[in-house]
Amino acid sequence: MNNKNYTKGNQQEGLTPITSNWMHKIMKEQEVVQELFTTYGSPLNILHPDSFAKNCNTFKEVFQQYQVKSQLFYARKANKAKAFVKRAFLENIGVDTASERELEQSLELGGDGDHLVLTSAIKTEKQIRISIQHQVPIIIDNHDECLLINKLAQELNCKARVGFRLSGFYVDEEKLYSRFGFDIEEIEEYLITNVGEDKKLNKFNVEGIHFHLDGYSTKQRSEALLQCIQLIKKLNAQGFTFRFIDIGGGILINYLESKTEWLDFDAKLKKSLKGEISPVTFNNNGLGYWLEDGIVKGERKTYPYYNEINTDKFLNEILAYTDNSGSSIASLLRDQNLEIRIEPGRSLVNQSGITMAKVVHRKKDAKGQWLVGLEMNMSQMMSSSADFMLDPYVMYADLEDKEAENEAVEVYFTGAYCLERDVLLKRKVKLPKLPEINDVVVFVNTAGYMMHFFETQAHLFQLATNLVYTEKSDSIGVTDFKKDSED
Ligand SMILES: Cc1ncc(COP(=O)(O)O)c(C=O)c1O
Repeated sequence: MNNKNYTKGNQQEGLTPITSNWMHKIMKEQEVVQELFTTYGSPLNILHPDSFAKNCNTFKEVFQQYQVKSQLFYARKANKAKAFVKRAFLENIGVDTASERELEQSLELGGDGDHLVLTSAIKTEKQIRISIQHQVPIIIDNHDECLLINKLAQELNCKARVGFRLSGFYVDEEKLYSRFGFDIEEIEEYLITNVGEDKKLNKFNVEGIHFHLDGYSTKQRSEALLQCIQLIKKLNAQGFTFRFIDIGGGILINYLESKTEWLDFDAKLKKSLKGEISPVTFNNNGLGYWLEDGIVKGERKTYPYYNEINTDKFLNEILAYTDNSGSSIASLLRDQNLEIRIEPGRSLVNQSGITMAKVVHRKKDAKGQWLVGLEMNMSQMMSSSADFMLDPYVMYADLEDKEAENEAVEVYFTGAYCLERDVLLKRKVKLPKLPEINDVVVFVNTAGYMMHFFETQAHLFQLATNLVYTEKSDSIGVTDFKKDSED
């Protein structure tokens, strides 16, 4: 951090991201980073599987503490890299696949029926066929899928391992809607009527129940789990046997160091919308809020970047949650010998990736704002929410001599698409001086859904290269970085 040549934007009043040592090690190395750009182009995604492994252990330890049977399945939709899939298998956890290519590639990388699950929203005949052939459990969403899976299992002359995805749980007397899964109120009758040796669906090995809830409520997840445990009890009495309940992903992570900064930013955003202070976002974007008759309305539509109950604490809250009689979920799972499964995406790749881009130009727009053009585009770091609210870092080739001259500037980073809205962060970023051409902007903690999920090739831009970083010693060199596809 004391290295003069790189700095976090918004030294004061920012949103300071939690970072890892490996990120700082890289940011200190101008020459290495410039060489990587020369070889692989800009932007670059750097992946750090060791951090992924650390996250695996964090979850494993919680399960061990509660002595429940468990398995983790890395939801690989969060990031396209093979490196995390390989590392998942090395750590002896599973991989949740949600498309034909995710499934095929995970099989090629060493996955098997006990370390894979297919949860695709749309399941093609081919996906189902591959799953049955490799005995990968299929999480079924609807009746049509049941018919197709049963038919293909008949053709392949074997049974299909399946779990049923459920939704429509009652929490605080309200039914949680989801477009996915079977309704919890209908599944019991459905299974009794349709599934079994002498029934229409006679080629299933029913192994589990699955749900994935929108949002991040531990209470909703716990209540849903209790309802699944009750359901399994009833179905056991009907001759069914279930091995697992999979509670999907959505485990919150914490991106930010300071709660105060997080709350302060919200207050500043509202003030700026009211015109009480100068804009803190590009074109005074409300990030979900808007001003009506002088009053700020709506809610901020961003990921909850600051969270005290995150990762292990989040899982802990679920396992310790008690039913009306005071039994914890963990004890109920143990009593029924049920395995709990989770499918974390974002939380397993936490701290496991950064995205770096080169500065191409600087300009002042008609409003007098500095726009710093980067060699990347909005699709290469795009949040599904209104903004990615982490301060970026800038690696200056030369910062020291200018710092004293107080050349601080406020900038927005702009991208290469021909769209007015290709502004990489909506928040204004204050820097000690204007970056020079070829200086480097670093966005940290981008592995989860940011670097890959929305990337496109409009304008025929190449997709960013993904480099896997393996720390070999205290020093760092270009050979510590290998293309994800090669390694
Ligand atoms: C079925 C399922 N499992 C797991 C996940 C991963 O969720 P997260 O990355 O929030 O942990 C998702 C995300 O959409 C999902 O739909």
